Amino acid sequence: MSKITIEGGRRLSGELAIHGAKNAVLPILAGTLLTGRSVIHNCPALSDVTAACNILTYLGCAAHREGGSIVIESDALTCCDIPDGLMREMRSSVVFLGAVIARCGSARVSLPGGCELGPRPIDLHLSSLRKLGVEILEDHGYLNCSVPEQLRGASISLPFPSVGATENIILAACMAKGDTVISNAAREPEIEDLASFLKTAGADIHIKENGTIYISGVEKLHPVEYSVIPDRIEAATYLCCAAITGGEIRLRDVIPEHLTSVYPVLEEAGCTVQTDQSSIRLTSLERPRPIRMVRTMPYPGFPTDAQSPLMALSSIASGTSVYVENIFESRYKHAGELARMGARIKVEGRVAVVEGVDKLHGATVVCTDLRGGASLCTAALAAQGVSEITHIHHIERGYQDFEKNLSSLGAVVKRI
Ligand code: EPU
Repeated sequence: MSKITIEGGRRLSGELAIHGAKNAVLPILAGTLLTGRSVIHNCPALSDVTAACNILTYLGCAAHREGGSIVIESDALTCCDIPDGLMREMRSSVVFLGAVIARCGSARVSLPGGCELGPRPIDLHLSSLRKLGVEILEDHGYLNCSVPEQLRGASISLPFPSVGATENIILAACMAKGDTVISNAAREPEIEDLASFLKTAGADIHIKENGTIYISGVEKLHPVEYSVIPDRIEAATYLCCAAITGGEIRLRDVIPEHLTSVYPVLEEAGCTVQTDQSSIRLTSLERPRPIRMVRTMPYPGFPTDAQSPLMALSSIASGTSVYVENIFESRYKHAGELARMGARIKVEGRVAVVEGVDKLHGATVVCTDLRGGASLCTAALAAQGVSEITHIHHIERGYQDFEKNLSSLGAVVKRI
């Protein structure tokens, strides 16, 4: 099993280009089931993207990579079920549900279980699909979905702006009969990117500023060529990596507005952030300042996915920072691993109190999940001595060329 070693204490500086967004490309790949031939550019080379392509291939599509692009031929599907093994490879495979139903009029998929972030129910996905005319029967861990008549537009009000549920509704509704209105929909940039991909293929989707999404079903979508937005969480992670070392970084190929909620927090930690049309520059203090309160919220609030790397920064701040995780029930598993490096973090339910220490020290730590893994690497960059980070398959789900990028900024990092 591979692991990463990082010798801490090097100040990072330099420039990086950000890859396409994992959380945008996954629902778009599901959407290619509806468009015939698609060419998707700016696809990051990540294990989750491979898992999505494996699902497409299993369903009968041809999906192959050409450099940073993936070409999908989805004209001839051979089945509309996704077996348990493929569903479990990645939790977000549930977003294939809406697309398969829209394409085939039925679907059989295994229920995604809980994961490292907590229970992760899909009740909002299922109740919304039912409103669109899908009959869903749960049978020994599988969902048997059928559409007795036709998918039909509906008015759906989400009690919580779930990203995945919003994506599933969009995918199922874009070819339903009639109009769908989603109130309190998720407003993450990845939702806008999915809508934009489908609109390029001929869908009729309008997103209002208040988060309401209007969809008029169309009969057919057409082949499409589309480029995925940059990964705002990859960008936020590298900003934290540079900041914890007192470094300086410029990120290229980003959409700076997507990180608007992150800048004030980094500024409170003592960083200076400057943006232009497609780049972000950060310079930082030798020692970060504490952050009074970080509350994770649905977009445009502070992203839960950036909470863990930022917590590494707070762990060496000159005071105490408080975190409130409002999105996932169990997203502080990295705190225990950070403690092995000397961090002082007390977790009580959704709150974590991070008392900054003068120095972290290198240790052997285990990635608990994707962003938790990024947090451990961030901490290791500032720790005295060498850290060994294991279970890095989590990191490979979301960060392309992670060690290579850190090395190019001056970190001493090796994959073993
Ligand atoms: N929820 C329910 N019922 C549902 C759906 C969601 O209770 O039917 C709850 C979840 O349990 C969770 C909260 O609502 O507590 C938020 O879930 P949401 O559906 O918004 O998230 P998701 O679609 O499962 C996506 C990203 C996550 C990101 C969240 C929030 C993808 C593939 N995943 O997950 O990304 O944290 O939105 O922004 O898009 C990551 O990249 O590391 C990651 C976990």
